[in-house]
Amino acid sequence: MKIAVYPGSFDPITNGHLDVLQRAAELFDQVIVGVLQNPDKKPLFSVDERIHMIREATVNYPRVVVDSFMGLLVDYMKLREAVAIVRGLREISDFENELRMAHMNRQLYVHAVTVFIPTNTSYSYLSSSLVKELAMHGADISHFVPEVIEQALHAKFFGV
Ligand code: PNS
Repeated sequence: MKIAVYPGSFDPITNGHLDVLQRAAELFDQVIVGVLQNPDKKPLFSVDERIHMIREATVNYPRVVVDSFMGLLVDYMKLREAVAIVRGLREISDFENELRMAHMNRQLYVHAVTVFIPTNTSYSYLSSSLVKELAMHGADISHFVPEVIEQALHAKFFGV
């Protein structure tokens, strides 16, 4: 069984992420969405909240499981016997940092192959940070995130 890890902060997951995930799930037998537990960052949503929301958003994705990890991604890959890392590319400027991470991960673990999936062009300008900023100001974000995220963002910023 070929398992891939799709790691990230997912604070919160967007339609851009989901588009990458859907296509990754066509390439692998199982894709694990790995939410990074990063004590250095102050996320809007807790890891548990993010996992819960991603599970709801991917309920119809049969090959996808959702989990969290701490520490090095390659150690998590070994633990889950994953053969690949999936990362989405929105634009050329993403590539520089992503390629650096791919090389470093391979240096750390020779079996770590990174698979880059270009995002759907209609989401190429989308990011979790922009979505949060829009939501904070009450803008319509329904085109950018699934309903569960839209509701969760509304609840965070406006309490309902
Ligand atoms: O969604 P993000 O924040 O761009 O994801 C970054 C992520 C989680 C892929 C990266 O920070 C990561 O893999 N962190 C785990 C720690 C690690 O393995 N660092 C070395 C990477 S070369």
